[in-house]
Amino acid sequence: MKHRSHQPETKAVHGAADLDKKNGPLATPIYQTSTFEVSDNDEQLRATHTDHFYTRYGNPTNTAAEQTIAALEGMDAALTFSSGMGAITTTLMALLKSGDHIVAQRDIYGGVSKFLSQWLPKMGIETTFVDTTDYEQYEQAIRPNTKLLHLESPTNPTLRIVDFKKTAALAKQHRILSMVDSTFGTPINQHPAEFGIDLIMHSGTKYLAGHTDLICGVVAARHELIEQIWGTRTTLGNCMDPHASWLLLRGLKTLAVRVERQNENARRIAEFLSEHAKVRKVHYPFLESHPQYAVARAQMSGGGGMVSFEVEGTGEDARRVSEAMRLFTLAPSLGGVESLVSIPILTSHAMIPAAERAKMGVTEQLIRLSVGIENADDLVNDLEHALQAVAAPQRVTVG
Ligand SMILES: Cc1ncc(COP(=O)(O)O)c(C=O)c1O
Repeated sequence: MKHRSHQPETKAVHGAADLDKKNGPLATPIYQTSTFEVSDNDEQLRATHTDHFYTRYGNPTNTAAEQTIAALEGMDAALTFSSGMGAITTTLMALLKSGDHIVAQRDIYGGVSKFLSQWLPKMGIETTFVDTTDYEQYEQAIRPNTKLLHLESPTNPTLRIVDFKKTAALAKQHRILSMVDSTFGTPINQHPAEFGIDLIMHSGTKYLAGHTDLICGVVAARHELIEQIWGTRTTLGNCMDPHASWLLLRGLKTLAVRVERQNENARRIAEFLSEHAKVRKVHYPFLESHPQYAVARAQMSGGGGMVSFEVEGTGEDARRVSEAMRLFTLAPSLGGVESLVSIPILTSHAMIPAAERAKMGVTEQLIRLSVGIENADDLVNDLEHALQAVAAPQRVTVG
């Protein structure tokens, strides 16, 4: 395939488009249509499996986005969905059946954790959660009926790193599928397929779209898996709207430059925070103090735009700091051009019981930053100012 020879920055702009095409529109048109006309009923039958039949089955604008993402991930094909949750729930329902078992990391996005622990059991599918970087636990959790290993790296919100080489090899050894939620990683900073991971999913709402203006999800994999997932998506009906696909395609064109800038800004902020007296702990994969620094360096080309940190104080202090920020907007979500701040126990992990959260290292002092593309000095100044909201430690006077 022609596009395979290009680097990610080029693929993000040109997608899987035929670069030799002449006289066509440079921007992908929006096929804002629910259905497609056919000349006769034989053609109707042939069209069913194409993107010129009915938009719940497929749509040319969606195809353009899907092919661009497949090229970026180095996979055969990709599918778009109405949300990241739509991508993951549909994929799991497509590939698993009652009686099957999943092994999943403990610290993953709260919505996925909830689906695995509260919804899939209703369909007879069980999940064993394991400590994210304890690979012996993964191995021990695999049973004869295990069908899939669900991973997330870097993790939300503590930015732990999972070793793709080790986990993909483990999955292959046990003949089970491996799936990575690569939302935080982006196809610019990491390529799980190169390590043998079978399925890569994204909340496209985040970095892929990049402008905080749409909700979407994506899964990339080899053809036969995508075919199965496609069949389930057409039944569940959570396809992406073509207009949202067009916005996604537009966002993808600047993915590489946005992510490069976010990598730089986030690293600068992580370094600043790690030296700040009112900060207890900083989570960032490209800080040398990060417990999986070596793995992060080996499988990522940039540390990403997400940083999380614990304030030296109480949960109240963390709330005050997040509210004192002026440039970092208090909002859930991440991956857009503008910097955002959130408190995970109140947002992404609000639906996780407190005891489980504690095991994940998601404390009430934890603040999550999604670093945007603004000027790094401005962002650092905003944090410096906001950290003044942490109450000074109480001095114990003996007398
Ligand atoms: C890592 C991760 N995966 C999946 C999702 C779900 O994506 P969406 O909100 O697009 O459904 C999110 C949302 O925050 C996320 O952070």
